[in-house]
Amino acid sequence: MSQADAPRHPARLRSFTRRGGRMLKQSHEDAWERYAGTLVLDVPRPRGADASTGVDPAHRLDPSQVFGRSAPLVVEIGSGSGDTLVHAATQRPDWDFLALEVWRPGIGHAMAKMDRPLPNVRFLEADAALALQTLLPPGGVHEMWTFFPDPWPKQRHHKRRLVSPDFAATVAALVPTGGLWRLATDWAGYAHAMRQVLDAHPSWELASTGRAPLRPVTRFERRGTEAGREIVDLAYRRA
Ligand SMILES: C[S@@+](CC[C@H](N)C(=O)[O-])C[C@H]1O[C@@H](n2cnc3c(N)ncnc32)[C@H](O)[C@@H]1O
Repeated sequence: MSQADAPRHPARLRSFTRRGGRMLKQSHEDAWERYAGTLVLDVPRPRGADASTGVDPAHRLDPSQVFGRSAPLVVEIGSGSGDTLVHAATQRPDWDFLALEVWRPGIGHAMAKMDRPLPNVRFLEADAALALQTLLPPGGVHEMWTFFPDPWPKQRHHKRRLVSPDFAATVAALVPTGGLWRLATDWAGYAHAMRQVLDAHPSWELASTGRAPLRPVTRFERRGTEAGREIVDLAYRRA
């Protein structure tokens, strides 16, 4: 299929900015040099505004080919500097982990936390809101994780929040019946909005408000707690 014939994504607001730039600290740059060839997926990109964080909508990823085996797949959206990812992938070598992150310095930082390239981890430098619409096989994700997504606390920015009815439908197409979408936030307003979106969505039912088992304390959780905010964990089951 030519680029011109490929399905086009509707115009949308991004859930991220690249305020911090794309410069990596030297140790993260070194980790990138060492491991990116093995761990960062090279995918065809669309032309235009989404050339660096989009994925060609005609491109499909076969997780069993990527990881060289068939294992439960966790997709982490916005893995940041990789605390949860590296911890969880180390604890669960029998699961595979695909991290979608738009912030390249975070991917470098995550790789710098590894003594060796973890065989059950891959990164994709991509906007999850776009890529997940087309990239993965329907029902192919055992668990979706979205921990401390950018909260966009100002009212006028709420429309940038990743968890929306449209995104809930995108994720629902990827998680099979009984699978989980785990979320956490330290922003009460976002937690409330997540509950409103997912409680109202026919594909999701609340399964737990307990702490996600493989979620360590990250910088974002610590920052929230120190500021006196309550941490909310939500796990929704695919109905
Ligand atoms: C507040 S940080 C949280 C990082 C990590 N989950 C944690 O708990 O430490 C949110 C991360 O999500 C990433 N992000 C935001 N929107 C995204 C999107 N549409 N696709 C992929 N990553 C995104 C940001 O670049 C940022 O690294």
